[in-house]
Amino acid sequence: MKELDAIRGEVLGAVETAADLAALDAARVAALGKKGRITGLMKTLGGLEPDARKAAGAALNEVKMAVAEAIEARRRVLERGAMAGRLEAERVDVSLPVRPESAGHVHPITQTIDELTAIFAEMGYSVAEGPDIEDDFHNFTALNMPEEHPARQMHDTFYLPHRPDAEGGSTVLRTHTSPVQIRTMMNSTPPIRIIVPGRAYRSDYDMTHTPMFHQVEGLVVDETTHMGHLKGCLIDFCRAFFDIDDLPLRFRPSFFPFTEPSAEVDIGCRRSGGELVLGNHGDWLEILGCGMVHPNVLEMSGIDSSRYQGFAFGMGIERIAMLKYGIPDLRTFFDADLRWLRHYGFVPLDMPSMAHGLTR
Ligand code: PHE
Repeated sequence: MKELDAIRGEVLGAVETAADLAALDAARVAALGKKGRITGLMKTLGGLEPDARKAAGAALNEVKMAVAEAIEARRRVLERGAMAGRLEAERVDVSLPVRPESAGHVHPITQTIDELTAIFAEMGYSVAEGPDIEDDFHNFTALNMPEEHPARQMHDTFYLPHRPDAEGGSTVLRTHTSPVQIRTMMNSTPPIRIIVPGRAYRSDYDMTHTPMFHQVEGLVVDETTHMGHLKGCLIDFCRAFFDIDDLPLRFRPSFFPFTEPSAEVDIGCRRSGGELVLGNHGDWLEILGCGMVHPNVLEMSGIDSSRYQGFAFGMGIERIAMLKYGIPDLRTFFDADLRWLRHYGFVPLDMPSMAHGLTR
């Protein structure tokens, strides 16, 4: 039994000093494993007299239990230590600013698209897209501009080399986002409520024109929509976008082949000393075109014009961005000048939302 006491002391010592879970397991195997010391002693019991076997068996069992208990206790200590070590090593300071290394900025066009999308999303619109390379049918014909229609000359169109296999006639770089009205109506059934932010192209270049620019189209089609809804929607949009609660809007009769009646919308402003200030100041500035979708357009898009009606609008994204953020020259949007971007750009990850504010 002296021997048993010695083994007990050694084994418990190894368990208690095991530095990590692997060392603890090695100590366990050395004592209780198939070839372990205590297991070895168990095997000798068979050769003893019955009385001696009983006494030795009880003593051995006691040691075995003590060792097992010690192993469990040590395991808990080591596991707790390992967890504490991981927590320390993987610690994050959640109060640190997000990605402090980010030096990039969001381009004002992207920012403006995010802002107007947030406003229209709140009103229940979804975002639709279409191709930049359009065919004659979607860009003109289906928008009530048949071949030889004089309105076609209003757009300085970029025509692409003729492809004899082209389905919708010759191909062009779309001169506005309106062809997506047609694509949407042909591919869905009313009610329709979409906006289409995207690029448009016209062969023109000066202070206020670039050959590529951005527009946002709006289209609503259902059984009851009328001009009052169009006005309300655009009034709400402009006031939210420019963040001026009493911004006045003026709807002036105008002409577009694809809407009837048509209107151009002016917002209130003041011009003094080369400066332009938006608000209820008596002067007016044109910002967008709109109207009730022409029945011919509904019909050409496969929609029953005796049952459905709707409104559409289109506005230049650079234009409203310039007005809101005081950017004087349209061409600078596309100069890819980092100094300009640092000045007019926006902090990434501050996504515009109606709940948190459009800009921060
Ligand atoms: N597509 C027109 C343009 O580019 C704008 C517009 C869209 C007008 C929808 C009315 C309705 O000038």
